[in-house]
Amino acid sequence: MSAHDPSKVLIVDDLPENLRALEAVIRDEARLIFQAASGEDALSLMLEHEFALAILDVQMPGMDGFELAELMRATSRTRNIPIVFVSAAGRELNYAFKGYEQGAVDFLHKPIDPDAMRSKVQVFVTLDQQRREMQRQMAALERARREQEVLVRELNDTQAELQRSLRMRDEFMSLVAHELRTPLNTLFLETQMRSLQLKRGTMAAFQPEQMETMIRRDERQIKSMIRLIDDMLDVSRMKSGTLSIRPGRVELTGLLERVVADLGLQAHATGTDFVLAPHAPVEGWWDEFRIEQVVVNLLTNALRYGGGGTVEISVHDEDCTRAGGQVRIDVRDHGKGIAPDFIERIFEPYERGAKTGETKGLGLGLYISRQLAASHGGQLTVQSTLGQGATFSLTLPCLVVAVPATASA
Ligand SMILES: Nc1ncnc2c1ncn2[C@@H]1O[C@H](COP(=O)(O)OP(=O)(O)O)[C@@H](O)[C@H]1O
Ligand SMILES: [Mg+2]
Repeated sequence: MSAHDPSKVLIVDDLPENLRALEAVIRDEARLIFQAASGEDALSLMLEHEFALAILDVQMPGMDGFELAELMRATSRTRNIPIVFVSAAGRELNYAFKGYEQGAVDFLHKPIDPDAMRSKVQVFVTLDQQRREMQRQMAALERARREQEVLVRELNDTQAELQRSLRMRDEFMSLVAHELRTPLNTLFLETQMRSLQLKRGTMAAFQPEQMETMIRRDERQIKSMIRLIDDMLDVSRMKSGTLSIRPGRVELTGLLERVVADLGLQAHATGTDFVLAPHAPVEGWWDEFRIEQVVVNLLTNALRYGGGGTVEISVHDEDCTRAGGQVRIDVRDHGKGIAPDFIERIFEPYERGAKTGETKGLGLGLYISRQLAASHGGQLTVQSTLGQGATFSLTLPCLVVAVPATASA
């Protein structure tokens, strides 16, 4: 019920002509009058409507006005309805009904003085309107308070998120600087050495064999910088949705053999043993360069975080020759694994492990890899128990249509 709905007034009298006369006296546009010919009728109306006032005839056959008032007092829904008794009896009846809330009861005597009746009804109707207006305002206040609470909470969350982003940005900048500085330092030292040797005329350092080693070393430094910059470029392309894949026919088993062989030296240096389970060739329609990138990321992570030991790589071909067939590559290490509350976060950009000093990357590898899997219509997932290693699974449909990678994966 809105505050502007008309107030409802109930009149109870056993005589229809009394009801009619009373209604004629108190009728007004701003109120709705309900008639009841008995206490029982009155009670059932009261259960259905909220009345601003009940005008009760005291003398009625069956339930009289006082008995009706007693029943009203006993029920919470009707307890607070103000009552005006109308009685033909003497003034001593004024005190016949007690116990009802003070101010909620009044008496009028027959024959009714229309002006007195009208002004009484007006008092109660005004009270009712004011009460409802107050309720409406309280409800509006409460609503506003709750809305404000939600806003404050959102604001706090946003602020925390912003602070986290700023912190991550600063960390990221110093990481990038560091990651670029190291190979650049090495290259710079190399050039200084060479210019010194040139000045001294120690031409032995420039024999073809030495040159070859120098060039390999330089290439390694340069490649690591290129990889870093490419990762950053990939992330910004993914965020803007402009990274596209170029699919072609790819044979997966051969690709894995190649990557494992390429990373052999690094694996050896960390005491890691890559074990590639033998598998028949599996052909699919993928972007070879990008799939290789994902596999390299997973194997590099296994080298970094696998704690040495064996890393098993296996291919699970679920009928790649059939339409709708897919293939899965598992990379399983026996390192310290990933904590459950961190497991989904590792796929977010810039997210790196606990700051133990053991992490070496920028935290982009898994983000990029998952996006690349998604842009092939596939998935990259992980299963891990803390202390018992991790298994990363790359699932790819064997025939896919190219879709651009987006930031929303
Ligand atoms: N095989 C793994 N075992 C345990 N933790 C891992 C493994 N691979 C990735 N992680 C965790 O996930 C984080 C994010 O990995 P990644 O996106 O490749 O970034 P980065 O290697 O540059 O730190 C890593 O810093 C590491 O904490
Ligand atoms: Mg990585």
